[in-house]
Amino acid sequence: MATILVQTELNEPACLKTDQFYNDVIAGLRAEPKRLNSKYFYDANGDKLFQELMACSEYYPTKCELEIFSEKTAEVCKAIMADGDDFDLIELGAGDAMKSTYLLKYLLEQKADFTYLPIDISDNVISYLNVTLPVTLPGLNIKGLNGDYFDMLKQAASLSGKRKVVLFLGSNIGNMPMDKAVDFCGELRSNLSQGDMVLIGMDLKKNPKTVLAAYNDKGGITKRFNLNLLERINRELNADFNIAKFDHYPTYDPETGACKSYLISVEDQEVSINGKEKVLFLKDEYIYMEISQKFSVLQTEEMATNSGFKPIDNFFDTKKWFVDSVWIAE
Ligand code: AVI
Repeated sequence: MATILVQTELNEPACLKTDQFYNDVIAGLRAEPKRLNSKYFYDANGDKLFQELMACSEYYPTKCELEIFSEKTAEVCKAIMADGDDFDLIELGAGDAMKSTYLLKYLLEQKADFTYLPIDISDNVISYLNVTLPVTLPGLNIKGLNGDYFDMLKQAASLSGKRKVVLFLGSNIGNMPMDKAVDFCGELRSNLSQGDMVLIGMDLKKNPKTVLAAYNDKGGITKRFNLNLLERINRELNADFNIAKFDHYPTYDPETGACKSYLISVEDQEVSINGKEKVLFLKDEYIYMEISQKFSVLQTEEMATNSGFKPIDNFFDTKKWFVDSVWIAE
């Protein structure tokens, strides 16, 4: 991901973000068991590593979803265009917008009346999209919003009263435990009006070896992706993690569909953060880093109905490893 620095008026002051990051890291490392929030994976280095990950052979979710967006563009667009009224196309966690670009291009060709509002926690991502998309997609109305999803969704709602279509792709919903995912969808619903839509990408349950390989790639990119958060804490919070003393351990439980990543301390060690916080690690102690939940189609439908949506369409890749579902707010 290229990093072009453009300040938007909606950027939070850097010191507030650092305070939040510091508080979350300290709370997570004081907790028993220790945990870090995977939303912090995505600094400039993390964005770059995630790009590498998406291109590696074992990491299938991006390829599956890309197949849906490139092969079923017209069908997906038809579903979200509904009656052809004007609408705001809001993308939560837009990343490089590679998948949504298929939709944006098609919608522009159809002369659809819409504004694209990408939301991302990474200011690098939003700066990049604000600068590059109007060049690659002439005529696109875009307003990138940098921040937490719901804060920015509220901003988006205050900008216009148009019908909303929210894209939440890439199985980002899977990075929340199941109960939190339902709460998240409920909160999403409460920020929308009847008739608004969600296009949500979810990774489906499949052969456990296929899932595990995607989170344990031979090139070690997933490992570096996880370790980068420790390096980020070193860089931004003046800590002294020695990343050679942590190992990456991914697991997949085919019964629950939970794919989890841990970092394991390879020896007893002490880490200092900002010169004042000391964190002790025992040999073999773990830090819980991330969940990447895999779903059955039935579970995705239950998640919709339990949070005030009606599932109206499912788009699958040819292997049926991934689904992009259209939900309408009831
Ligand atoms: C962004 N998210 C959906 C990715 C996933 O598959 O859970 C993040 C990731 N973590 C390790 N590999 C990819």
